[in-house]
Amino acid sequence: MNSQTEIPKELIQTIHEADHVAVLTGAGISAESGVPTFREAQTGLWAKYDPQELATPQAFRRNPKLVWDWYSWRRALIHKAEPNPGHLALAEMAKIVPKLTLITQNVDGLHQRASSQDVIALHGNIMETKCFANGHLLDSWPESDDVPPHCPICNSLLRPNVVWFGENLPAYALQTAVQAAQACDLFLSIGTSALVHPAASLPLMAVENGAATVEINPQETPLTRWMDFVLRGTAGELLPKLLTQLR
Ligand code: APR
Repeated sequence: MNSQTEIPKELIQTIHEADHVAVLTGAGISAESGVPTFREAQTGLWAKYDPQELATPQAFRRNPKLVWDWYSWRRALIHKAEPNPGHLALAEMAKIVPKLTLITQNVDGLHQRASSQDVIALHGNIMETKCFANGHLLDSWPESDDVPPHCPICNSLLRPNVVWFGENLPAYALQTAVQAAQACDLFLSIGTSALVHPAASLPLMAVENGAATVEINPQETPLTRWMDFVLRGTAGELLPKLLTQLR
């Protein structure tokens, strides 16, 4: 393992030789867009809540208004945020390598707004809404003062279309992500603490299948010791550098 802040030439060569690059991103790639990372201390009104205690079906059953209001607050933050140079560099990298599969744990949609194609959103999308009882996916719902609003199809409460702790990941997204992790010859893990499975298992599947592996994160993670290349720095700084050297 090779931990550094500069991009090693061997990594550039490895990327040039790769036929299929798989990338897993986490909250860290959106940190430089001003979207707080999931485990970061929260500010203001929400400081006293642990995000992991708000992002569960139990929390929603207990206090649906609290959970809906928390997601409305996050949705507003994300709405104001813009993709940063890290997101943009990944969208550009997809045009250089023969095949790039972008898998994200982020629900903020910033990769999609940076023009990345076919993003696998393992944990859903905060801008989408579905109903709690039957999973009806909705673009809109009738005006009302109810918080949360009710599903116009079955009248159950509406919730964000994100994966909460204790819930299954969308089956097709997970299956496609696993296939990419097993088939790729290079895997990049960017801005994730690699604590939440099954997403955190994807880089290890790539290791098992003999892919070269890279971590980009200012901090050490449980993955670090398995990685061939470890770049210590932020995604917004390192990914554009990587792209420049690739070109
Ligand atoms: N560039 C790269 N990495 C960064 C940056 C940055 N600018 N800033 C922070 N990081 C790193 C942190 O060091 C940390 O390792 O990003 C990681 C963020 O970790 P988490 O907040 O745990 O986010 P993530 O790994 O995406 O969490 C996974 O868990 O809470 C659930 O569903 C939620 O999708 C989330 C999942």
